[in-house]
Amino acid sequence: MNVTVKHAPLTDIFADWLVVFLFEGGSLPDNVRTLDERLGGAIAALIERGDFTGKLCESVDLFHVPGIAAKRVCLIGLGEAASFNVSKVDRAVMSACRRVSVRAAVSAALAIPGDLGGVALGTAVQILGWASEVGSVGQGLYRAEKDRHRFTEFQIVVASPDHLAEWQSQASRGQILGEATNLTRELVNMAPADMYPETFAARAEAVAKEVGLECEVFDESRLRAERMLSLMAVGQGSVRPPRVVLLRYQGAAPDAPYVSLIGKGVTFDSGGLSLKPTEGMKTMKADMAGAATVLGAMSAIARLKLPVNILGAVGLVENMVSGASYKLGDILKARNGVTIEVLNTDAEGRLVLADVLSYVADQKVAKMIDLATLTGACVVALGEEVAGAFTNDQPWCDEVLAAAKRAGEDVWQLPMFDSFADQLRCEVADVKNVGTRWGGAITAAKFLEKFVSGIPWVHLDIAGPAFSEAQKPHRDGGASGAMVRTLVEIFSV
Ligand code: BES
Ligand code: MN
Ligand code: ZN
Repeated sequence: MNVTVKHAPLTDIFADWLVVFLFEGGSLPDNVRTLDERLGGAIAALIERGDFTGKLCESVDLFHVPGIAAKRVCLIGLGEAASFNVSKVDRAVMSACRRVSVRAAVSAALAIPGDLGGVALGTAVQILGWASEVGSVGQGLYRAEKDRHRFTEFQIVVASPDHLAEWQSQASRGQILGEATNLTRELVNMAPADMYPETFAARAEAVAKEVGLECEVFDESRLRAERMLSLMAVGQGSVRPPRVVLLRYQGAAPDAPYVSLIGKGVTFDSGGLSLKPTEGMKTMKADMAGAATVLGAMSAIARLKLPVNILGAVGLVENMVSGASYKLGDILKARNGVTIEVLNTDAEGRLVLADVLSYVADQKVAKMIDLATLTGACVVALGEEVAGAFTNDQPWCDEVLAAAKRAGEDVWQLPMFDSFADQLRCEVADVKNVGTRWGGAITAAKFLEKFVSGIPWVHLDIAGPAFSEAQKPHRDGGASGAMVRTLVEIFSV
């Protein structure tokens, strides 16, 4: 899609939709006042009568706009200027893009105020570029009649003629992030009959080839040779064999340290013999969101040619029920020699990650981040829109949290007190795979910590934000692609 940044009078912009963003209260910016004069004061009248207040994501359409070049005008609220921030830009801009992409073959022009309070204009332009991609693609992968359509043209109209080239490159960067987010969303939204370990691995190889990543796939014999027996146990009840995919990106000197991104890729989580009820199982095609986030983020990092070295590693299995399933009471020997008593086959993500984390730790990476839809307990703690963060190294975690803040994604750190690890003590093996009902997101993180060999590590539990059954004005239902932007942002300074 063609995204361009320009400066021109709003009356002269040719587009099927001209979207005008306005703050709550305050007077109309100069360029909007000129537009309003041409529209006979229609905008001022809407505001005066209280039909448009400018509250965040509020929207009003004007279908009859004679006298200007655009065919329709849509007003979108930005909320109060004083409390404006990156996450609100995201919401307002996504609401706008989702609203005007319901019909096919639409050209859109979006006009942003010159003064965005605490938000830099370049950041806002980047988010617009991102939303032009993410807001115009829905979750209807398998529908004949789509409910969202790509724009034929997307113009970003800024209030000043300065720095246009800089804004244009921000918009393009946003588009790359948007395509990466959509890649993650697509993989997560695919039916589990289509997206299983082998097909994920094949897709990863195709993406790697396209963007210039090195890609290596471990099949069963290689996994056995690597002693990844904890990961393999989870997959043994499925007719779909497990895979581990490694992705390498070298954007810095070959001897510069590598950072590793690790993803949970349970392509379907039935719970295994600790079977989930229907309600809990309905969304479990999304249990590979961590893996899809790693692939999406690495595709953007490669396309943006960021000056870093990254090792991506995803563990892909299907957690199923059959005569061959792993059982309660089984003792698994993880790659690093730790023995694990399985007391709940639904706590499978940690068993998969254990082996991938220990493999990555042995590659002598400098730092790691894992992403996983790991626990329902994290959703109970933080809700559906906030990712949980856990760490063994506060400075590294602070870097990740700062990047999330710049990217406008909500992440909140939970503690890692040693008392939580007590819940995992076991009489028959080194550790058991579940604790009590309480603090489940943290005990899961304490379990993972045993496999990172003390390397600075952040665990992001994305069980809440990765997927949502219901749509919101600013988000489609289904997969969100959450944390793709944060991961890229970590390596962007
Ligand atoms: N994939 C689930 C976690 C999950 C739940 C993700 C809801 C997204 C939405 C994970 O494998 C799981 O089943 N966790 C169990 C752990 C328990 C058995 C200790 C859970 O959260 O109930
Ligand atoms: Mn599970
Ligand atoms: Zn799971």
